[in-house]
Amino acid sequence: MTDEPHGLDRGLTNYGDRDFARYLRRSFARSMGISPRLLNKPVVGIAMTPSGFNNCHRGMPELVEAVSRGVLEAGALPRPFPTVSLGEVFLNPTSMVYRNLMAMDTEEMILAQPMDAVVLIGGCDKTVPAQLMGAASADLPAIQLVTGPMSTGRHRGQRLGACTDCRGFWAKYRAGTVDDEEIAEVEGRLSVTQGTCAVMGTASTMACIAEALGMSLPGTAAIPAVHSDRLVAAEETGRAAVRLIETKIRPSRVITQKSVENAVRVLMAVSGSTNAIVHLTAIAGRLGIRIPYERFNAISDETPVLVDLKPVGDGYMEDFHAAGGMGALLRELRPLLHLDTVDIEGRTLAERLDEPETWVDRAVIRPFADPVSPQGGLITLGGSLAPDGAIFKRAAATPGLFETEGRAVVFTGLEDLSARIDDPDLDVTPDDILVLQNAGPHAAGMPEAGYLPIPKKLARAGVKDMVRISDARMSGTAFGTIVLHVAPEAAIGGPLAAVRDGDRIRLSVKEKRIDLLVAPEEIARRLAAHEPPPAPKRGYKALYRRSVTQAPEGCDFDFLAGAAPDHP
Ligand code: FES
Repeated sequence: MTDEPHGLDRGLTNYGDRDFARYLRRSFARSMGISPRLLNKPVVGIAMTPSGFNNCHRGMPELVEAVSRGVLEAGALPRPFPTVSLGEVFLNPTSMVYRNLMAMDTEEMILAQPMDAVVLIGGCDKTVPAQLMGAASADLPAIQLVTGPMSTGRHRGQRLGACTDCRGFWAKYRAGTVDDEEIAEVEGRLSVTQGTCAVMGTASTMACIAEALGMSLPGTAAIPAVHSDRLVAAEETGRAAVRLIETKIRPSRVITQKSVENAVRVLMAVSGSTNAIVHLTAIAGRLGIRIPYERFNAISDETPVLVDLKPVGDGYMEDFHAAGGMGALLRELRPLLHLDTVDIEGRTLAERLDEPETWVDRAVIRPFADPVSPQGGLITLGGSLAPDGAIFKRAAATPGLFETEGRAVVFTGLEDLSARIDDPDLDVTPDDILVLQNAGPHAAGMPEAGYLPIPKKLARAGVKDMVRISDARMSGTAFGTIVLHVAPEAAIGGPLAAVRDGDRIRLSVKEKRIDLLVAPEEIARRLAAHEPPPAPKRGYKALYRRSVTQAPEGCDFDFLAGAAPDHP
């Protein structure tokens, strides 16, 4: 140990008398029943996120207990502390608004409280990105543990998992092929255990990304939430956090340009969530690392999809774990990876992958030479409708719609969409392109509204997919020919705001473009009359509106992005 204060002596409260502050702190710590022997140990903070509004974190108490066990056994004092918790479906207007709040909470509580290292326990969509953003900025030795994916349920002989099957059944219900009674039955069978959504949605993608970055222990991303191995992993995570106090490996050493590129490879190979692009951009941005959209496309074009999981394929996260998980996937990707990155254990990726491989289920994790598809699942688009870029999940889209020119049917916002989408008199045909405006970060907090429903009258006529465009996001569990994250967003005067009913729009996946086929002078004329929506005047929402960046910058707050922590 160095002479630097450690354990409870770190960051003493300012009373103008350090000895008094130390004496008072120890006295109050003893009121928690901690012996003087333990009070002298190094401290591992455990950022825990249980909440009665977060089903995905139902297993948190057991995980905290297991991490604490590992910390104690390795000779340190575990100190769990709460932060904001974000349960995806319980937040209005959308959890995305609060990701940065949770990241700030995590960063500040890591820095304000006396700890030598921190374990971050998250799982639901925004929680892992928020924790990694906060930890990257705090830059104290940190390790991520995820709550793990849900196990599947059963319905009339079919396996069900949130939330790809939620959407599949809802689409059938809207189309009239599933009735009220069956949809009520399905409601009770989709989410049947603790843990995060059962498919390769945002939560699972971020768990894989955390492991690919080197911020969580090898092999832990996909262990099911209810599996005993998850608790063993939690215990080992506690021990690893204590080792971090000695090695002093900080997030800034683990999250580097190279490890971020490895994470992008994994994102492509698992055909992961579009949301992960925004989150990874924000995490990397906290350390001054940028991933230009052109680089995303280059990586996507040369990285095959190797994992056959919903929403794109067939399996669920429990299958991915049983098939060999991240270790098996990374070995297949080895020729494309930077192997000299270092994880929180101080091991290079090459050292990890040199370990002997165990059995791999090739039906779920394909060999490099026989991929699910030869190119990555996600691409970015440019073009006159999205000068700063847009995201397209080609793996979840209908190839027959990749080269489409159609007539725009425009919804000016979320309320307009819900008011008119099922109107029997809506002037819409299957060849039209649905456009949603004012659902970007400034206008609406960028909700997962980009998966515009197929108008009921078309769904009932058998239409399964249409081209849909918005500045919103889409759930990682969703699918369809959907252009998302259009930037600049409509609310700040991006060209999306200029689209009118009847305009022609052209999507070309081959050219990676989305274009509004209207003369530039006419677009400029329409945008000159554009009025931004009114801004909230007080509180967090006002701060959010003032500070949130666009999707290509990760929707972080402008004052939080950047490399240098400026804390005392
Ligand atoms: Fe939490 Fe899907 S709702 S991961």
